[in-house]
Amino acid sequence: MPVDALEQAKYWLLQDEAVAIPTETVYGLAANALHPKAVSKIFAIKNRPTFDPLIVHCSHYTHFEHFASTIPPEADKLAEAFIPGPLTLLLPKLPIIPDLVTAGLPRVALRVPNHPLTQALLQAIDFPLAAPSANPFGYISPTTAQHVADQLGDKIPYVLDGGACGVGLESTILGWEDGKPVVYRLGGIAIESLEAVLQQKIQLKLQQNANPQAAGMLDSHYAPRKPLWVGYLSLADFLTANPSYQTLQPEKVGVLRFREASVDFPIENQRILSPQGDATEAAIHFFDYLRQLDAMPINIILAEWLPEKPL
Ligand code: TXA
Ligand code: MG
Repeated sequence: MPVDALEQAKYWLLQDEAVAIPTETVYGLAANALHPKAVSKIFAIKNRPTFDPLIVHCSHYTHFEHFASTIPPEADKLAEAFIPGPLTLLLPKLPIIPDLVTAGLPRVALRVPNHPLTQALLQAIDFPLAAPSANPFGYISPTTAQHVADQLGDKIPYVLDGGACGVGLESTILGWEDGKPVVYRLGGIAIESLEAVLQQKIQLKLQQNANPQAAGMLDSHYAPRKPLWVGYLSLADFLTANPSYQTLQPEKVGVLRFREASVDFPIENQRILSPQGDATEAAIHFFDYLRQLDAMPINIILAEWLPEKPL
């Protein structure tokens, strides 16, 4: 068994096993995207339904031409600005991409992660990596190697530790319909930034994902195990609206806030996403804080609404 971390990850990938890898967005559960047998392990480990397609990670934008039949000139513009980075492009797939990866859909999702360790790994192998976020299906996405180990540690042979993720939210997903750009998932790159590069308004189609059953559309996704209520700023408001919780004590409530703590709850039960009110900083902490709250000896989580823009 190799001792070097990168060599170990490579070793298992060459055996068609799935290993966790760091990216700038969230940790991914990666396997050889060109081998259905390897890809099937991702679905099994995550307990992920096979109708939910996977993103294919490449070492360089120029490699997209091996996996996509056509690449619009606008993709080149976006790549110049944002690739490598938290942008995934949906492009017509070539047959080399197994149908399992795309859930039978005609397009493949391609992305170049901007993380030095995973860049080095991708350069050390001669195949792209299919990788969804490395969490059990439906649960909060992982932003540290420890998050992955906590939940999938006994199911995967290796977690490549690349530190905490610098973005903390999944990649923004963009494709084209009738030659017009469409964003299907909001993520690490604000839609306004994409519009500035393409110099046009971009349509948002979160309700009409390429696959109507894809994960983001399900009733529950990115969910902690504790009930999470959004929008109540005081315990009194929450109890008025939810009389069945009448006996709930402030000590039994976890609180997720944007800029400042609430006076209604013990401070150790609260997580503040960004005291500066900065969306980028909030994004970095978001999944991690949800996990911390989920692990506290509390009964419910109350979260504040966060600003809609820019992320
Ligand atoms: O930041 C990210 O994108 C992370 C890191 C690991 O790269 N990955 C990630 O993958 O978020 P995942 O599996 O959690 O989300 C993938 C989503 C699918 O649920 C679907 O909405 C969309 O990407 N997708 C992937 N392939 C697609 C395809 N062929 N057609 C339409 N949508 C696709
Ligand atoms: Mg996911």
